[in-house]
Amino acid sequence: AATDRAVATAVAQPNIALIKYWGKRDEELVLPRTDSLSMTLDIFPTTTRVHLDRTALHDRVALNGASATGEALRRIVAFLDLVRERSGRPERAVVDTRNTVPTGAGLASSASGFAALALAATTAYGLDLGPVALSRLARRGSGSASRSVFGGFAVWHAGHGAGGPDGDLASYAEPVPAGDLDPALVVAVVNAGPKDVSSRAAMRRTVDTSPLYGPWAASSRDDLAAMRTALLRADLDAVGEIAERNALGMHATMLAARPAVRYLAPASLTVLDAVARLRRDGVCAYATMDAGPNVKVLCRRVDAERVASVLRGAAPGSTVHVALPGPGARLLDEAW
Ligand code: PMV
Repeated sequence: AATDRAVATAVAQPNIALIKYWGKRDEELVLPRTDSLSMTLDIFPTTTRVHLDRTALHDRVALNGASATGEALRRIVAFLDLVRERSGRPERAVVDTRNTVPTGAGLASSASGFAALALAATTAYGLDLGPVALSRLARRGSGSASRSVFGGFAVWHAGHGAGGPDGDLASYAEPVPAGDLDPALVVAVVNAGPKDVSSRAAMRRTVDTSPLYGPWAASSRDDLAAMRTALLRADLDAVGEIAERNALGMHATMLAARPAVRYLAPASLTVLDAVARLRRDGVCAYATMDAGPNVKVLCRRVDAERVASVLRGAAPGSTVHVALPGPGARLLDEAW
């Protein structure tokens, strides 16, 4: 039985938001101010093994083989504390996590990381949560992780109104109905280094100081409604257009924060120019960017190689990956 296992290994992939999550209403519970919507990718898996150690006094965490320390360790231990509280089991854990995506570069390593950790840890501690409850819990590790519990397209409900326990229950992700789209996301990594300002700190500063935050949050609600319709109609041009304006608007809110938060680098703008040129040449291609300089380009699957080679040419020195919609978080049968 799951309750006796005390060890579990899970895999999850990053997701890229087409309607962005930017801004919390409750920092402790990670409750967002707006709904967001994403596509889970089939690349950059994180694999996480958790086993309980009855004799240990502290959790031990290895990230890509190196002992985690500082903030990274603190966040994982705080998450394990939540799982211990829910399961009523006090044991410390040994966590081994392997990321194939550059950490901290706005490529959603925290989304795949906390989705995999949520599934592996709840299983190892004998909790059998359904996907919605798992999503709600993964949210506490990193907001965007709530969406990586699901494959394909997922919407994360802000769960409006309350903060506190009522807000917690109402805020989770679930799959979004979509028509017969055949999308790809071409990821141009222009700089794989870690960012200067964490998304957590940048969100807080934006909400507290940016005069553009309120208007963007209001328009994001309209964008989400339009995005749902575009997905149902399988209208990839509309999906891309809405995603691009929503992302550029989010970056505008940060640029207007005091002091400004600027994640976009010269190479990011070069890639945006290349995307605009692709569109002028009749290719369906739209850009989105997160808390980092890297650019993700939504296009049709049949055009993905062409888009990738145009981006490689436009930003020499960048690394370009082609992603398709991927699966949600899942358990591996055997420890690796
Ligand atoms: O979940 P976090 O703290 O990594 O925040 C992610 C925020 C963005 O990637 C910029 C947008 C999003 O919705 O994923």
